[in-house]
Amino acid sequence: MSIAIYPGSFDPPTCGHMDIILRASNIFDKVYVACMINMRKTTMFTVGERVGMLERMVSGLGSVSVVSSESLLAEFAGELGADVIVKGLRAMSDFEMEFQMSLLNRKMNPNLDTLFLTTGESFQYLSSSVVKEIGSLGGEFREFVPGCVYEDIAVKLKEVSKNAK
Ligand code: PNS
Repeated sequence: MSIAIYPGSFDPPTCGHMDIILRASNIFDKVYVACMINMRKTTMFTVGERVGMLERMVSGLGSVSVVSSESLLAEFAGELGADVIVKGLRAMSDFEMEFQMSLLNRKMNPNLDTLFLTTGESFQYLSSSVVKEIGSLGGEFREFVPGCVYEDIAVKLKEVSKNAK
């Protein structure tokens, strides 16, 4: 059985993430979408909120489960029996960091390879940060996030901008 892990901070999840989840689920027997800690980022949504949104997004996909962890990806993947990390790659700007993480993860767990899926062309410009920025400034971001999570994100962004005033 082929098992993959798709890790990220998903703060919040976007249509670009959904595209990678769908494509990974067509390649692997089992995909774990793992909500993890990125020490280079501070998050707006709690882990519970992010996991809840991801669970709604994958509810129709029988081979996909959502998990979360505060540990190292290389270790967590091993615990889940995953031998492939799936990452979405947008433009060259993503590459350097992803390349480094891929090498480090394989160094820490030699059984672990990273498979890069190029992001769908319509999502090249899309990121969680862009969604947060547009939404916080009152812009329309509906088309950038799956419909089932739009309200959660809109409510949170309103709450955060209100508290910042
Ligand atoms: O969506 P992101 O923020 O680009 O995802 C980055 C993430 C969460 C996959 C990465 O920071 C990660 O693997 N975090 C888990 C902790 C870890 O293993 N860090 C070392 C990476 S080499």
